[in-house]
Amino acid sequence: MSLAKDIKSILVNEQQIKEICERLGKEITNDYKSKERPIMIGLLKGCVPFLSDLARHIDLPIEIEYMDVSSYHGGISSSGDVKIRKDMNTSVAGRDILIAEDIVDTGRTLDTIVKLLKHRGAKSVEIVTLLDKPAGRVIPFEPKYVGVTIPKEFVVGYGLDYEEIYRNLPYVGILKPEIYTK
Ligand code: XMP
Ligand code: MG
Repeated sequence: MSLAKDIKSILVNEQQIKEICERLGKEITNDYKSKERPIMIGLLKGCVPFLSDLARHIDLPIEIEYMDVSSYHGGISSSGDVKIRKDMNTSVAGRDILIAEDIVDTGRTLDTIVKLLKHRGAKSVEIVTLLDKPAGRVIPFEPKYVGVTIPKEFVVGYGLDYEEIYRNLPYVGILKPEIYTK
């Protein structure tokens, strides 16, 4: 049973992902070089491949933490309700925070998390996302670092799932609609 058979087309291939990580890594290294030990917070589970590839192109002493927040309850549409399933273990007070996300869609998840981290006293909070789907926005939200802007399609792979499957595809692809309509 191959995973690739469920993919309609590849949207971001492995070479493009590599170039995105190199470009964003350089940009972040440059922007954060005078900051003291920024904390990169990955939002589980979708961030995992992106964060680990990107972080290897950030040539600075950074800390890495994870939070598991979810506005999803299966299927392909996001609910308005953002829940924290696992919090981070470090205080963010007075710290520069860079949140790593797989995709910004409605903007609800990040809007909630940015507000929470600021409320906890973070000095700065910025977002790096592999994918930006601006046509999906319900809340105005602009991530500072974007790998690639994509159309309003449901995508999987390189961390992104449909019902927990496809995260291990090495590229980002559009899922065949018959997979989620059957
Ligand atoms: P919001 O809507 O709050 O949510 O910006 C971002 C989260 O929604 C999930 N998401 C997707 N997951 N394919 C996926 O596999 C998609 O096309 C997609 N769009 C949104 C994802 O978990 C993201 O972190
Ligand atoms: Mg996610």
